[in-house]
Amino acid sequence: MSLEPYYEDQHVAIYHDKWEAVFMALDRCDHVITDPPYSEHTHKKQWIGAALTDKGKPRVGIAHTELGFEPITGLEAEQFAASIRVQCRRWAAVFCDLESISMWKAAIQRSDLDYVRACIWDKVDSAPQFTGDRPAAAAEAFVLAHPAGRKKWNGGGGRNVYRYPVNGRERGPKIHPAQKPESLMRAIISNFTDPGELIVDPYMGAGTTLRVAKDLGRKAIGIEISERWCEAAARRMEQGVLDLYRSDEEFRAETQGAFFDEGGGSNESV
Ligand SMILES: C[S@@+](CC[C@H](N)C(=O)[O-])C[C@H]1O[C@@H](n2cnc3c(N)ncnc32)[C@H](O)[C@@H]1O
Repeated sequence: MSLEPYYEDQHVAIYHDKWEAVFMALDRCDHVITDPPYSEHTHKKQWIGAALTDKGKPRVGIAHTELGFEPITGLEAEQFAASIRVQCRRWAAVFCDLESISMWKAAIQRSDLDYVRACIWDKVDSAPQFTGDRPAAAAEAFVLAHPAGRKKWNGGGGRNVYRYPVNGRERGPKIHPAQKPESLMRAIISNFTDPGELIVDPYMGAGTTLRVAKDLGRKAIGIEISERWCEAAARRMEQGVLDLYRSDEEFRAETQGAFFDEGGGSNESV
């Protein structure tokens, strides 16, 4: 099968298609780091801030944000995990809502990968619960999978909680309604991957994984079903490698001091 990239430079490539049509046709990669659609539960609760009155009540006539893509299903999660099993040599980090951790755990285990554990993104500046009748949803997760056998990460004795704001300068430009902050992706990419390795993001969105991977000296491939987001990601890639970041070690020392052993270094297993 011949695949024509939508965008390509010496560090990254973008394919405009369903991952189902592309992922298995690529060469094997070192890591999959990706952010698929969340469950129906979360999709239904994507209230737009502007759609709420000052008292936090939904404005009449505005149901919820149009994310523009469908929620994940258990079947798709299983197909995806099975593809990771074939295509990925090391870590897979797959974002999900807290409600879907068990779905992803089951899919990963059925695919014969090791389910390692779930990690939490603590969204330190997330919105309060405007309705006041339940706790605000202030955390998302990513599940970690790995082929059986020896595992290694760069986070030393660090914990599985990542505290990063949704907004602010280190988020990067706001492009996509379900975008991840660059600061969070920088921490994950530097924790789980090494310079020169190849990362695939099969649910690329506006290309946050690719942008950060490129700036951190990794190679990356993104796959995205929507041309709108392929175009936005391609524009985001056009700048060469941005020297915004310290070395991995300096970055960890500056931003993750609370979560890492003083000695740093790598762990044989997590
Ligand atoms: C949660 S968003 C990813 C956002 C991304 N992390 C960012 O920071 O921009 C998920 C993306 O997956 C895309 N998508 C959904 N189903 C897909 C499929 N089968 N193949 C490829 N992309 C898909 C959607 O169009 C959406 O842009």
